Amino acid sequence: MRNIKALDSLKKHLKRPLKKLGISSLVGILMVLSLLFQVWVRPALTQQPVTITIMAQGQVLSNWKPFFQEFQDKNPDIRINVVEGPFDTNLQENLLTSAFLLGDSPYDILNMDIVWVPKFAAAGWLKPLDDRLPPEQIAEMIESNVEGGRYQGKLYRVPTNSDAGVLYYRKDLLEQAGAQPPETFQQMVALSQQLQGKQGATWGYLWQGKQYEGVSAMFVEVLGGFGGFWVNPDTLEVGLDQPQAIQAVEFLRDTINKGISPSGVSTYGEEETRMLFQNGGSVFLRNWPYVWKLANQEDSKVKGKIGIKVMLQGAGQQGGSCLGGWGLGMSATTKHPEEAWRLMQYLSSKETMRRYVLGSGEISAYKSLFKDPEIVAKYPHFPQLLEAVQQSVLRPPIAQYAQASDILQRYLSAAFTGGMNSKDAMQAAAQETRNLMGSLKPARTSQHPRSAPNVAIRS
Ligand code: GLC
Repeated sequence: MRNIKALDSLKKHLKRPLKKLGISSLVGILMVLSLLFQVWVRPALTQQPVTITIMAQGQVLSNWKPFFQEFQDKNPDIRINVVEGPFDTNLQENLLTSAFLLGDSPYDILNMDIVWVPKFAAAGWLKPLDDRLPPEQIAEMIESNVEGGRYQGKLYRVPTNSDAGVLYYRKDLLEQAGAQPPETFQQMVALSQQLQGKQGATWGYLWQGKQYEGVSAMFVEVLGGFGGFWVNPDTLEVGLDQPQAIQAVEFLRDTINKGISPSGVSTYGEEETRMLFQNGGSVFLRNWPYVWKLANQEDSKVKGKIGIKVMLQGAGQQGGSCLGGWGLGMSATTKHPEEAWRLMQYLSSKETMRRYVLGSGEISAYKSLFKDPEIVAKYPHFPQLLEAVQQSVLRPPIAQYAQASDILQRYLSAAFTGGMNSKDAMQAAAQETRNLMGSLKPARTSQHPRSAPNVAIRS
C-alpha cells in the first residue's frame, strides 16, 4: 500500500519536468547518453589488454623478468607474452625466419643479434625506427652498436646489450708463476703449456669450435689477430684463402694437436666452455662478458680467481675482440606498433639498462654505463670492456651474412675435426663464398666507419 503511494508521488513529480522538456529533447538526451556509453564506458569495461610477444633465450629472459613485471605493473593495458628460444643465436634466427616465411609472424618485438639486421631488414621483416628513437639517446650509445642496427641508411634495431669477445684467465695461476696476462696468441700458448695441469686446470685454452655462429665470431678474432680478413663489405672481396687466414686456422688446430685445447672444443659453444672453465678445468677461456658474473658466483670453483682482458692478437699484428650485441627490432607484422614501442622504449632506456647491467654483469650499449661509479664498483673490469668494444672486429655487415657464415662454419668444422686440412678447407670456403658474393653488387649495408675489413673501430 505504501509502495503504491510512493510510486504515484514519483509519477507526479516527473510529469512536470518531462512535459517542460518536450518529447524531442528527451530523445536527444537519450541518444547522447547512449553514444557516450558506446564510445567511453563500454570499451573501458570490456577492453582486453594488448599482448606483445617477444622471444629471447633463457638466460636473457631471466635477467629481463623483473623488468617485464615492472613494465606490466605500470602499464595494465599491455601484457607481455614471452617465448623462450634456444641459446644459440642461429637457432633463434632460424625460428624467427620460419615464422616470417610462413606468413603472419606472431612476434611483435624481436630481440636481435647484431648480425641478423641486414638480412631481416632486406627481407622487409622490420619496421624502421628512425622517427621513434631520439637523436640524443642515439648519441649516448656506442656508435658501432647503433650502426649495426642500420641497413641502407635506416635504423631497424635499438641496441640494448653490447658485446665483445674477451679473454678470461686464471689470475691466481699466473700470479703464482710471476707471469703477466698474455698479449699475443703465441704468449698464451707458452703460458698454457707452462701452467696446464696446475690445480686441476687440465687444459690451457678453451674456445668455441662448434659448427654454429659462435665459431664465426671466435674466428674473426683469430683471423684479425693474424692480419687476415673474411669479406670486405665494400668490394665483396673474399680473403679466406689468403695465407693469414690459413695460418689462423692452423693456429686453432694446433691448440688441439698440442693438447692445449681438448679435441671436444670442435663441439663446444659458449656454455660448454664456460662450464668447463668455471669448474677450474682451464687456464684461459675465450668468451663474452656475460661469463664474469656466473664464473664469480658462489658455486664457481674459480670465484675471485679470474681476470679478464681484451682479446689477443698475433705477434706483431693488431687484433681485437669480435663485436657482438643484441637489440630490439619491431616486427613489420605487429598489429600493435605503439604498444610494442612503449615496451621497447622502456627496455632500452638508460635507466632500465643501468639496473639490468648491475644485476647481470652484461654490458650495455650506453657508453656512460661503462664508467658509472656504482657499476664500476661492482664490475671493476668495465672500463676495459669499453676499450674491447671500441677496438672490436666486425663480422661482415652484408645481407647474405647468414649464408656466408654458414659456409665458414662448415669448413672450419671440417678443419677442426680433421676432415680436411686447413688449406683445402679455406680454399673451398673462399670459393663457395665467392660464388655467393658473385651474384651481389659491392654495396655497403650502412654508412659506418667499418669500411676496411679488419679495422679497429673507435666510437
Ligand atoms: C653473443 C654475441 C652475438 C654472437 C653470439 C655468437 O651472443 O652477442 O653477437 O653472434 O654470441 O654465439
